[in-house]
Amino acid sequence: MAEETEIRTYDPPEEFVRQANVKDASVYDEAEKDYEGFWEERARQLHWFKEWDQVLKWDPPEAQWFVGGKLNVAYNCLDYQVEQGRGDKAALVWESDEPGEGKSYTYSELTAEVSKFANVLKGLGVKKGEPVAIYLPMIPELPIAMLACARIGAPHSVVFGAFSADSLRDRINDCEAKVLVTADEAPRGGRKTPLKKNADEALADTPSIENTVVVRRTGEDVDFTEGRDNWYDELMQEADAECPAEEVDSEDILYILYSSGSTGKPKGIVHTSGGYLTHVKATTSWVLDVKDSDVYWCTADVGWVTGHSYLVYGPLSNGATSLIYEGTPSYPEADRFWDIIERHGVNILYTAPTVIRAFMKGGTEDLEKHDLTSLRLLGTVGEPINPRAWEWYHENVGGGRCPIVDTWWQTETGGIMISPLPGITATKPGMATLPFPGISAGLFDEEGNEIEGPSDSGNLVVKRPWPGMLRTLYKDPARYKETYWEKYGDVYFAGDGARRDEDGYYLITGRVDDVMNISGHRISTAEVESALVGHQAVAESAVIGRQDEDTGQAIVAYVILEGDREGSDELIQELNQQVRRTIGAHARPKEIIFTPDLPKTRSGKIMRRILRGVAEGEQDLGDTSTLADPSVVDDLKAARQ
Ligand code: WTA
Repeated sequence: MAEETEIRTYDPPEEFVRQANVKDASVYDEAEKDYEGFWEERARQLHWFKEWDQVLKWDPPEAQWFVGGKLNVAYNCLDYQVEQGRGDKAALVWESDEPGEGKSYTYSELTAEVSKFANVLKGLGVKKGEPVAIYLPMIPELPIAMLACARIGAPHSVVFGAFSADSLRDRINDCEAKVLVTADEAPRGGRKTPLKKNADEALADTPSIENTVVVRRTGEDVDFTEGRDNWYDELMQEADAECPAEEVDSEDILYILYSSGSTGKPKGIVHTSGGYLTHVKATTSWVLDVKDSDVYWCTADVGWVTGHSYLVYGPLSNGATSLIYEGTPSYPEADRFWDIIERHGVNILYTAPTVIRAFMKGGTEDLEKHDLTSLRLLGTVGEPINPRAWEWYHENVGGGRCPIVDTWWQTETGGIMISPLPGITATKPGMATLPFPGISAGLFDEEGNEIEGPSDSGNLVVKRPWPGMLRTLYKDPARYKETYWEKYGDVYFAGDGARRDEDGYYLITGRVDDVMNISGHRISTAEVESALVGHQAVAESAVIGRQDEDTGQAIVAYVILEGDREGSDELIQELNQQVRRTIGAHARPKEIIFTPDLPKTRSGKIMRRILRGVAEGEQDLGDTSTLADPSVVDDLKAARQ
């Protein structure tokens, strides 16, 4: 995002520093001297049934953290908080799609609900180590189901509610879940997604599923298969509120979360227990500065990793009050976010650049209707934030007094990797700044050499293991190795490009592989292409992400039609439908361009750089001499008009 703004530096405000969870910059040096010792100290903040024998076992690319340690993640997020006197404190505050509606759970209440649901799962035959699939709206039953899995040591696999029946089916089949937890419908922004109907479609082809548990969210009539489907409320009514937390190994799987890679098949990213919780608890406290007295709001959907780490596990393991909101930023009115902040007295807001840019478009009028002085810290995640949006956020939402933490991390990293520490780091708009203490980031060039000092470009890497790192790809260790650890040997290849300035600050520029980032959602070009060619009219397709001022990137699909088929508005709609049905509504192309040909090299490789250039309206498309047929470029330009 080219912007001619002069980059200012913002020191941490004194008032913030005074109360910050960490304020002494020596933490960086200390962690650097002994990073294993640093993480060990963080792990000591958790409750362990048995301490570890070894902090780290690193047999690249396989890492084990806190080897031999036994703990339970749900126990840490619930019982341990009650033991520390937080029993009557709000753990989860739920705001429904309708303003002012919702409910909240204290730590004691949440412990009881989770224990009951853990017993429900046991009653359905779920055993330690057996994955459970979860496909739910943003309702309290979502964290409850996740924590219940964690309580009995069953890995959860949450599928984002906007994913289609096909996507749900593939994810269930990959992890072979026996139980699916879902709901009748998912209300969002005044509309309803028929989750149970989608689930029924998916379950027509998922041999592993023996039972479903269905939450009655809207009360809409849904089909029910006797012997397979069960109502959540009916099972909960009979369930015992006592369920001892299973002692699990530090390296037992906590969850699998599917994420797009550069092929059409999503990757089952595996996170384990002890290291992951250590990482998210520490970063929630140090980066998001969460305290006992805070109302903390992460606006991400729990279907993505940000919701896992920073709506559920990070805040609850810190004994915080975590807000969970079901709806959209603009329903029923454009001031909904500000209304929520004011009504709940939110102190920390963690959101995505796309949301900020959307508000920016609407001006400051909606903000001015509300008192936002409860806020003391702002965060962003998921995509690069352009300096103008950063400044707007700082000035208008944060009233100029709240530091902003621009946090870089990934589903794979489990927790925040590069970010300011708000009581220590001077921030620069648009920059994620410095690696978290104990994390060693770097830049490599395409030839595999490490780049030292300031640099305008490079591939971002992580040079040593960290506790929240993915352990493998579910049932596919070869792909794990190949995707992350082969390009540069024993350093982790993140798939992102970055710049580094004279202060060592990082600015993440975006993906360097065939993964697009649409409103902070990862979607692979191959997934969309394969959805499109599933339509009988399509012979071939090439998909790219082009810059978009609202959503960061937008999906553009170039489509070659079969035989003498001709493009039409109707066909565009059909193709959109096709993508929606195969992947989900969030993956629909913004633009579909019918073209007679695609720019290919003589060896048949599609030159996406050229497709991107055409979609962004660039006049000069650089070197086109390697194209098998350079005249394609003119056809493409003409097709777009
Ligand atoms: C991008 C989300 C710039 C990046 C936590 C990464 C960012 C991908 C930032 C991971 C940031 C995330 N600045 N880009 N602060 N945070 N990204 O797996 O391209 O959904 O690789 O995890 O989002 O997306 P994922």
